[in-house]
Amino acid sequence: MTTRRTMLGALAGATLLPAAAFAQTPTSASAGGGEALKDIAKAKGLRFGTAISAGHNQFGNAAYRALVERECGIIVAENEMKWQALEPRRDVNNFGPADALLGWARDKGMEMRGHNLFWQAEKWLPAWVAKEDFGSQPKGGAERLMRKHVQTVCQHFGGAIKSWDVVNEAIDPADGKQRQNALTRAFGGANSGPLDQIDLAFRLAHEYAPHAQLVYNDYMRGDTGSAKHRAGVLAMLAELKKRGTPIHALGLQSHIGSWDESADRGKADLLEWRRFLDQVTGMGYDLLITEFDVNDRRLPADIAKRDAGVAAAARDYLDLTLSYPGLRDFLLWGMADNISWLQTWDEAPRTDKLPMRPLPYDGELRAKPLRAAIADAMRAMPARSGARA
Ligand code: XIL
Repeated sequence: MTTRRTMLGALAGATLLPAAAFAQTPTSASAGGGEALKDIAKAKGLRFGTAISAGHNQFGNAAYRALVERECGIIVAENEMKWQALEPRRDVNNFGPADALLGWARDKGMEMRGHNLFWQAEKWLPAWVAKEDFGSQPKGGAERLMRKHVQTVCQHFGGAIKSWDVVNEAIDPADGKQRQNALTRAFGGANSGPLDQIDLAFRLAHEYAPHAQLVYNDYMRGDTGSAKHRAGVLAMLAELKKRGTPIHALGLQSHIGSWDESADRGKADLLEWRRFLDQVTGMGYDLLITEFDVNDRRLPADIAKRDAGVAAAARDYLDLTLSYPGLRDFLLWGMADNISWLQTWDEAPRTDKLPMRPLPYDGELRAKPLRAAIADAMRAMPARSGARA
């Protein structure tokens, strides 16, 4: 999933809403009907929210913003807190877009998560990091760069960010091994390089954001195609536990649905997923859902059938995943189909080229069956300790 990605994809490919959608804001945004998702979640001790980008069709769109305010108790920046966004050139910081999102979240009483300090796929490190010359003592040079990055970012946002994705996507799903990049190679490459670098990332985050929940975030799923990915994540979490690395939780990205061509084994995949979550929680890690959406590429073109299939897949996944009471945050990767990253993601498109329908609202901000499935799953899940109801 980290190959063939286009950084500007989601922004470049997204279409603006027709003017009519703006005019209808209040009614269409409330057409979700009934209780807001954040309130259904809150009654059970869960926080519900979404990723949002600073782009013109998300934060820049009043109707979309109103929808997020109505439904969400927590947000995360889709791209604006990534290293390449915050430091596009060495020593040149750009905090503007992230600060705008954070200021808005504060005004509206929403929490904000941090995503992410280190994205392990080389392609997603800032280009200048990949080209960095760490000198004759590469490990020391890489450590200094990592420290400066974590210190600058964590001190800038301070106590406002109470949960950080410290390391993103460290495992290569093809072989279950830890990915290499310019930083891990500076740490000694093949042997313990990645693990030493990941360990340091968490220790630095703990040092500069001691109040924050520190999360390892990845996109493993329950399907057979994900078996090596799951095994690699478990092995890494076990090794880090042995080292006493300060990690508190595993972020389940939860980009579910029809990603690979391997037969969907339905219930069998869910059993594997349960086994995986049991092993993670058995090691003492908390869970959170960080980037939920449903890829519909193998569902029928017919919209009613497709939306029903998306809702059913979501319900199965959420009934199981939300049954873990230590899971206290549930974020989607967007609220409306038209702004989803999947519309322009190289590996996602449907063979019939129809726009995808992975999120709870359509492009005109009308609630879809997926919204009802999410609401029902949260109503059915066990209450977390300290919940008000
Ligand atoms: C994606 C964004 O949605 C796109 O706009 C961007 O071009 C690439 O990154 N896993 C992650 C997220 O952790 O940061 C990714 O977000 C989606 C997959």
